[in-house]
Amino acid sequence: MICCLGVGPGDLGYLTLRGRELIETADVLAGFRTVVDLVRPLIRDECQVVTMGYKDQTEMLEKVASLHHEGAKCVVVFMGDIHFSGFQLLERVEHACGHRVETVAGISAAQILASRSRVCFDETSFITFHRRGDIAPFQKHLLHALQDGRNVIVIPRPWDFMPKAIVDFLLSRGVAPAHPTEVWERLSQNEAAWSGTLGDCHADFTDMSIMLIRTLHPMKSQLNLAESRSRLSAAHGNIDCSKAGGTGTPGSPRTETN
Ligand SMILES: C[S@@+](CC[C@H](N)C(=O)[O-])C[C@H]1O[C@@H](n2cnc3c(N)ncnc32)[C@H](O)[C@@H]1O
Repeated sequence: MICCLGVGPGDLGYLTLRGRELIETADVLAGFRTVVDLVRPLIRDECQVVTMGYKDQTEMLEKVASLHHEGAKCVVVFMGDIHFSGFQLLERVEHACGHRVETVAGISAAQILASRSRVCFDETSFITFHRRGDIAPFQKHLLHALQDGRNVIVIPRPWDFMPKAIVDFLLSRGVAPAHPTEVWERLSQNEAAWSGTLGDCHADFTDMSIMLIRTLHPMKSQLNLAESRSRLSAAHGNIDCSKAGGTGTPGSPRTETN
């Protein structure tokens, strides 16, 4: 058996129970060194650990695949969630195994960022540049997402498309420098490592950085709470809770107790 598991963004508090169970019962645990190190405290002594780096990943994954074909329970760990910026590694695992492999979702850095900076997924696009190959289609998508008035969560590409280069690219394509922008490093802090406007984002960041470019035109609420509140109070005889000594929120239906 072999499965690919997302272990969350670097804090065991964000590892799922399903993920923990898979790690604790694995015969073979494999992954990039930094990701394996995150879950090392959970690996049992009898488990064979296979760590890899970018250069030897093909060879190491062949080794994991042959252990899997011999019947070992193999777990390949991925940072965050596999389904955001993890598919190239998944492709390599499946190539080594010669078949499709089960994926187990984890909590993505994008989810932690959304919660820290309070953006809603419905109004946000996710774009990763942390991938091999041509990034031009993703650059185009980034431009379109901003032009469509969406927030964008961006994973930079450590070797050539870090926040500074992303900003230069966007400004050169006519994007307004006023977009509120944040860069979060390691997501372990409660504050962004940097925040300001897109046009002022010239700093250098580590490769454990994730960027949020907010829309200039945040969507207004599509709920008319004031209207529904007055409809409710009309239906309930316009009870004024403060005067009636009620304990409910003003305008909320009151429970009659006698
Ligand atoms: C190959 S991508 C994997 C993303 C991962 N699959 C996810 O869902 O979060 C690795 C990049 O994700 C971002 N990242 C992952 N965890 C992070 C964290 N805890 N803090 C900041 N950035 C993080 C960094 O940009 C890092 O270089």
